[in-house]
Amino acid sequence: MSSAEPIRVLFVCLGNICRSPTAEAVMRALCAQHGVHERFFIDSAGTGAWHAGEPPDRRSAAVGARRGMPLGGRARQVTKDDFIRFDYLLAMDRANRDELLALAPSAEARNKVALLRSFDSQSPPQAEVPDPYYGGSEGFDHVFDICVAACEGLLRTLTEPPEPPRAR
Ligand code: 4NP
Repeated sequence: MSSAEPIRVLFVCLGNICRSPTAEAVMRALCAQHGVHERFFIDSAGTGAWHAGEPPDRRSAAVGARRGMPLGGRARQVTKDDFIRFDYLLAMDRANRDELLALAPSAEARNKVALLRSFDSQSPPQAEVPDPYYGGSEGFDHVFDICVAACEGLLRTLTEPPEPPRAR
């Protein structure tokens, strides 16, 4: 067990019922699998408030349950406080990212904002997690696979040991 402060990660989408709770569940499960769950504090939120208080969308929840990474929590809207409470605010798409950048109260806060898929070295620049809400069930499986690839990259990045000093 580490006594250091946890790394605080907030996943952000539009409604906080499909993509960001999926990313949250995937990241939690990967951290547990790697035995590093105590080093992380993980949450999710939406840029919109329409679904605040609701559980995850049943289609997202079904995929997570089937894949052994169960979704939990209740939807909430992102707040200015989140820029203080979290080290990373990871957006699912560019619209979410731009909303976060507009809400960020300082340059330091803006530096905490990134696209989740920027941590997946196999994805193209500016890649998004597509919104599955109005589509079919295959979209929810696709979102899950994207979140696994991106969260594996995120976990690798955040747990990498620091570079050793260069030999002269
Ligand atoms: P999410 O998906 O942003 O991944 O949670 C959506 C959920 C709800 C709506 C749109 C996207 N909506 O329009 O209500």
